[in-house]
Amino acid sequence: MCGIVGYVGGQASLEVVIDGLRRLEYRGYDSAGVALVTNDGLFTEKRAGKLSNLDVALADVETPPSTTGIGHTRWATHGAPTDRNAHPHLGRQGRVALVHNGIIENFAALRSKLEAAGHELESDTDTEVAAHLLEAEVAAGADLTEAMQGVCRQLEGAFTLVAVSPDAPDRVVAARRNSPLVVGLGEGENFVASDVAAFIEHTREALELGQDQVVTITRDEVEVTDFRGNPAEGKPFHIDWDIAAAEKGGYDYFMLKEIDEQPRAIADTLLGRLSETGQLQLDEMRLSDDDLRAIDKIIIIACGTAFHAGLVAKYAIEHWTRIPCEVELSSEFRYRDPIIDRDTMVIAISQSGETMDTLMALRHARGQRAKVLAISNSNGSTIPRESDAVLYTRAGPEIAVASTKAFLTQIVACYLIALYLAQVRGTKYGDEIAEIVGQLEEIPAAVTEVLASLEPVRELAREMGAARLVLFLGRHVGYPVALEGALKLKELAYIHAEGFAAGELKHGPIALVEQGTPVFVVVPPKGRGPLHDKMISSIQEVRARGARTIVLADQGDDRVLPYADQLVALPTVPTLMQPLVATVPLQVFACEMAMVKGHDVDQPRNLAKSVTVE
Ligand code: F6R
Repeated sequence: MCGIVGYVGGQASLEVVIDGLRRLEYRGYDSAGVALVTNDGLFTEKRAGKLSNLDVALADVETPPSTTGIGHTRWATHGAPTDRNAHPHLGRQGRVALVHNGIIENFAALRSKLEAAGHELESDTDTEVAAHLLEAEVAAGADLTEAMQGVCRQLEGAFTLVAVSPDAPDRVVAARRNSPLVVGLGEGENFVASDVAAFIEHTREALELGQDQVVTITRDEVEVTDFRGNPAEGKPFHIDWDIAAAEKGGYDYFMLKEIDEQPRAIADTLLGRLSETGQLQLDEMRLSDDDLRAIDKIIIIACGTAFHAGLVAKYAIEHWTRIPCEVELSSEFRYRDPIIDRDTMVIAISQSGETMDTLMALRHARGQRAKVLAISNSNGSTIPRESDAVLYTRAGPEIAVASTKAFLTQIVACYLIALYLAQVRGTKYGDEIAEIVGQLEEIPAAVTEVLASLEPVRELAREMGAARLVLFLGRHVGYPVALEGALKLKELAYIHAEGFAAGELKHGPIALVEQGTPVFVVVPPKGRGPLHDKMISSIQEVRARGARTIVLADQGDDRVLPYADQLVALPTVPTLMQPLVATVPLQVFACEMAMVKGHDVDQPRNLAKSVTVE
């Protein structure tokens, strides 16, 4: 949610900043802007809409030389996505430029105070208030770093701020509270950004910042303090993914590439987690075995696709560990006064590690003394940092807004945690655990097989471009798969899509079915006796009412054939593994449908990748 870059070094800052914004555009694309420190003061340019609009505007002007600059790509919160509300925002005299990610909750009170003191604010944003305050601190004699500390002490809410001023031409000052900010450590140059993708082509060395910290970067130095100016330290880390991972690599869209990367992402997430003796090893698990044996309840908190991964995981966790498991939307969790104590394990699933709803739910859980375990794809992000234990998925950077490889690896990570708990608590024998890990290890090949067989699914999407409603049905672990299929279609193709537990259909939703309504059905593996039989009944019920059925079923599941208008054959895998193969055709269908409709697959309207507001 909003991408921020700051640079100081020997290169042309405009290029570095614009390249960084291009890599961060997935975080928001309502507007984009830059501010550069030049010999003549600040140069700023900003435009509503995608970064390409800013590119066009910049092509029309002569940009003065600069080696210090900041940039912003916006997901609008306060104020419409217009040129006027685009960042950077300037102080009253135009002596500081500021970009911001987050929400300043006390901005109305601060704005009134500023206006009473004669400040005229031009935009509807909360950010401009911070820019005026910052400049006022500088005017009162503070240097830019002290001024930033002073402003942060006045602000409430969530913010990452990055500022430059021609009065301090060789520095960029940034601050964070509850919103992401990392420092890139270069040779004779340094960077700040919302995410390492912004500077990965320049350096792989980075610094993770803590809560309520201010960082000042110059070409050769990085200084971290708290909001009172006391020295503080960031935590250095190495970025181990390659620049190619953040490039499209010949694909038209990141999403297409990320769908294809799923076999590798799953294999990497499993890598090295089973010892030679068959013992499951989760090195990142910092909770003691005694802690794990004491757990009497698990609550999974997550949003969107990550929530669907949690819904899948519940089946495995309860089946393998016999610990009751609830799955809750992060945004609902803390408002219902959940019953948690020191023997509750809360598992927070978040690809970005920055989702504010999940972060706030996690803090609530920790406040109640629950043990918190994070599953995340982003090293150095806030949710893992604030958790008692972490299991990283190794999906590599996920840049398309619609989550794909993160989903599958989140399921795998949850399964590893469930197996670990089963091992420690003795609810499964070692050979049983090894057998399940063996099944997981076969999934990359199964996903590769699915990916190779999806041309008919693409064909179907091309043919169904005009559909206005698509339904998805599943049972057991197929139910969250149905929810995920519907979510993908909504967010990418902007089509009304709903996922249902197939058994619920007759309790209401079946009224939606009309002649020709497309209904995707995820059929449980054929060995599942009654579950399989019930699903066949559900298919018959919708078909009897005119539905066009697209049936995802095991290869060789002959019993579904008479009821399938289209059959998508899946490799035969155990029931709990089925979501890992059955989701893939639904991702491809949604992606293709969006392309047919001419949508930007990587940047669907109104969305942003990392949702850092509540
Ligand atoms: C959907 C999607 C979102 C995210 C959700 C949580 O394709 O990507 O629903 O899954 O915003 O994001 P993370 O996992 O970063 O917490």
